[in-house]
Amino acid sequence: MKPSAYVKSAAEAPRKMSQQRFQAPRGTSDVLPDEQVYWRLLETRVEDVAARFGYERINTPAFENANLFVRSVGEATDIVEKETYTFEDRGGDLVSLRPEGTAPVCRAYLQHGMHNLPQPVRLFYMGDFFRYDRPQAGRYRQFHQFGVEVIGEADASVDSEVIDLAWLVLESLGVKDVTLLLNSIGDTECRPRYIDELQSYYRSRADELVHDDCIRRLETNPLRLLDCKNGACQPLIDAAPGSVDYLCDNCSQHWHSLLSDLDALGRSYKTDKRLVRGLDYYSRTVFEIVPPKDGRQSTLVAGGRYDGLIEILGGRPTPGIGFAMGIERVLAAIRENEEPITQDVRNKVMVAHMGDEAKSAGMLLCSELRAGGVAAVLGPAGRSLKSQLRYASSIGSTHAVIIGDRELESGSFVLRNLADSEQRVVPRDGLVEAMSPH
Ligand code: HAM
Repeated sequence: MKPSAYVKSAAEAPRKMSQQRFQAPRGTSDVLPDEQVYWRLLETRVEDVAARFGYERINTPAFENANLFVRSVGEATDIVEKETYTFEDRGGDLVSLRPEGTAPVCRAYLQHGMHNLPQPVRLFYMGDFFRYDRPQAGRYRQFHQFGVEVIGEADASVDSEVIDLAWLVLESLGVKDVTLLLNSIGDTECRPRYIDELQSYYRSRADELVHDDCIRRLETNPLRLLDCKNGACQPLIDAAPGSVDYLCDNCSQHWHSLLSDLDALGRSYKTDKRLVRGLDYYSRTVFEIVPPKDGRQSTLVAGGRYDGLIEILGGRPTPGIGFAMGIERVLAAIRENEEPITQDVRNKVMVAHMGDEAKSAGMLLCSELRAGGVAAVLGPAGRSLKSQLRYASSIGSTHAVIIGDRELESGSFVLRNLADSEQRVVPRDGLVEAMSPH
């Protein structure tokens, strides 16, 4: 059905529509004012750590040409096969809401000639992403990621750098007891040999392969066989060959160099042959950071190398590596820690008023306070002083200014500290100064 058809049917059923109570779509959520403190904290810490590592922010559009994800993430991946929100726009172009950030950043790198800048280019992003997944705890249809990409450096030192960055962000947010899982899936030279080995292994035990998705994956995406969560597949996975045993010399050198860099940085890790990742663009290093409970069911950070991706998108061969952190999952982990996060304690004034003239004076005072950098809210109209002060507390005001006839006449207003109810009289012109942070 075309969008205009929806609009028409809505107009044809005005009675039904007027009775409809709208809800946020399944798998999406509202971030209400009292949760904003967590989001602000995360954004500030993330920006601070990224800046300390010399990363610069990039924003890309919420939707892209659908083919960008088909070519990069891969046609046979769950994301592209089942999860993208893809539609033809009114001009007939096929677009997808972005399911991830690496392909858009690589597209932007090429489009804006960043390959002509000194390499590597270090970028980070934060934003919302969209996947038509089955909603459950920690899995949403609209979710947020903080991600970084380093493009133009093949050396393993940047692999440990991005891992260290992710680790430091989690540490700065008080997320504890996480585990770093690592694997290398080789490159175009050694991976085909490994995949052959893996397929022969699974074919030799074909009678034990009962899970439909895995039977299909054996032909379409054999690496993902190792990633299967189905109970019946676990004994097969346990005995399967691991990719690090099939690395070519270059990949093996890169792998060992990464391990020794992590040892030097004091970052502990577990190597894990099951870690193959669900996106086709990866090569060599892949990693995840997982919380103590649920493990890989609720991975906080996931990433890896994508040395062939820029070329797939039409650029010269250029290596790259990055990760993305699931913001909702990290926020849930912070809440579990329950070290309380307090709102910042900047002054916030509510101007209470009695009578029309006082209300006008209050409106002007609010405007002056705001222009002077102080947060100010006018008390609700037509209410008693007591009710206005109650409202002031409910919105977290630190102070109230009280204006009545007497104050208008004298030109001095009562300033009440709402924490201790102490009051003093301040000349009108001194209020901005009295409320400004010193
Ligand atoms: P990803 O593993 O698809 O990788 O997602 C990274 C992280 O985003 C996950 O570990 C998880 O924390 C979060 N996430 C993914 N899907 C959802 C969802 N439906 N609901 C809530 N959180 C979710 C990527 O996106 C790659 N682009 C990462 C990367 C960057 N690789 C290299 N550079």
